[in-house]
Amino acid sequence: MKDRDNFGGRYGVLVALAGSAIGLGNLWRFPYLVGKNGGAAFIFIYLFMVVVLCMPVMLSEFVIGRRSGCNAFGAFKALSQEKKWRGIGLLGVFSAFVTLSFYIVVGGWSVDYLYRALHLSLTNRSTANLETLFGTIITKPWEPLIYLLVFLGFTGMVVLAGVKKGIERSSKFMMPMMFVLIVIIALRSLMLPGSMAGVRFLFRPDFSAVTPDTFLAALGQAFFSLSIGLCTILTYASYVKKDENIVKTSFLTVFSDTGFALLAGLAIMPAVFSFGISPGEGPGLVFVTLPLIFSKMAGGAIIAILFFFTLFIAALTSSISLMEVCVAYLIEERKVSRRRSVALCFGAVLLIGALCSLSQGRLSHITFWGKNLFDSMDFLSGNVLLPFGGLLLVIFAGWKMKKADVIDELTNGGRLKINPHFLNIEYFILKYLAPLTVATILITGWLH
Ligand code: PHE
Repeated sequence: MKDRDNFGGRYGVLVALAGSAIGLGNLWRFPYLVGKNGGAAFIFIYLFMVVVLCMPVMLSEFVIGRRSGCNAFGAFKALSQEKKWRGIGLLGVFSAFVTLSFYIVVGGWSVDYLYRALHLSLTNRSTANLETLFGTIITKPWEPLIYLLVFLGFTGMVVLAGVKKGIERSSKFMMPMMFVLIVIIALRSLMLPGSMAGVRFLFRPDFSAVTPDTFLAALGQAFFSLSIGLCTILTYASYVKKDENIVKTSFLTVFSDTGFALLAGLAIMPAVFSFGISPGEGPGLVFVTLPLIFSKMAGGAIIAILFFFTLFIAALTSSISLMEVCVAYLIEERKVSRRRSVALCFGAVLLIGALCSLSQGRLSHITFWGKNLFDSMDFLSGNVLLPFGGLLLVIFAGWKMKKADVIDELTNGGRLKINPHFLNIEYFILKYLAPLTVATILITGWLH
């Protein structure tokens, strides 16, 4: 396609990809999962999953996306005559839609908390008051919907502006800012008395806390955090120029995402331990525990603003990438203009997102397997759709595509000199180890 939008340069590609990967998964989900699953032991398993299993999935998405130069559905059409493989693309678009629908709810909470932090209404509260605040906020019918709309509005605006002018340009200033902010917050947290207990919790493993569930949780989190398994990386990769080094870009994306997750841990856990709060608070960790800490610590009002601003932009750059998967599909497969695709996506996501938001309060009586709609979508996305999609993606790259084509794409037609041992190992994992391990973890996790 001649007039297809593309990323401009190397740095733009990297910040856009890191922007997709770094998000609520790092700042909200990772710290509370670490807290719930015994700290460092979870981190070790997580790192193993990322390096060994997720890297090949990411490379597969890169190969499929850039080689085809198409959206999630079109990519499989371009690379294979067999219709059945296109199902992977459709599943990707569906998964992106599901994920975006609940993601914007939490994105909305981040806007709400940022607003409160700016009005100093988070730090002027009593402890008891703060504890009930989160519950009150998310169960209200209207307020969360308004914030959700604001968040979705920002997302839509960037996607509307296109790949280079919207996604790339906004990521270029949001991403560096986010790194600086999280480092400042981590440093402040480390300066608190007794903070070292939090650092020990993060880096000294206690493997007795590990259960079979830990593996599925770590796998789901790794997929979610790296944005793999639902064709997001594939879609972004289709905008990457043919002379970029995609192996290096994958490494840098994985490295920055994991580094950011650890920094988020360092920003949160030392403060949690310093104030003697339990690290296993669950999803409320960022929205209940942290404001509590901010209200007690010196300079907390400013740190609160910085933190919720970071949370907001982290969430935004990720939701943009989710919307782009659906929009690219509509533009290229349904021949709809970018403007109309964004409008369609906006409307559909708003509807399901609103239901997810209401499922915290008014609609909490509607449950699926004992979970409200929001929790069901979160579970469906992280523990089912992403790993399953990832499994299909590596099967496609490993078994349907020719090895020579995969290597050709990874090395830019042989022009890049990449260590052949490295390529062979990655290919072996991609073809055998990754599908087997992901399938095993998924099946044992589901049956458990
Ligand atoms: N990786 C994002 C995060 O960590 C979430 C996401 C998942 C974005 C899948 C795109 C695709 O928050």
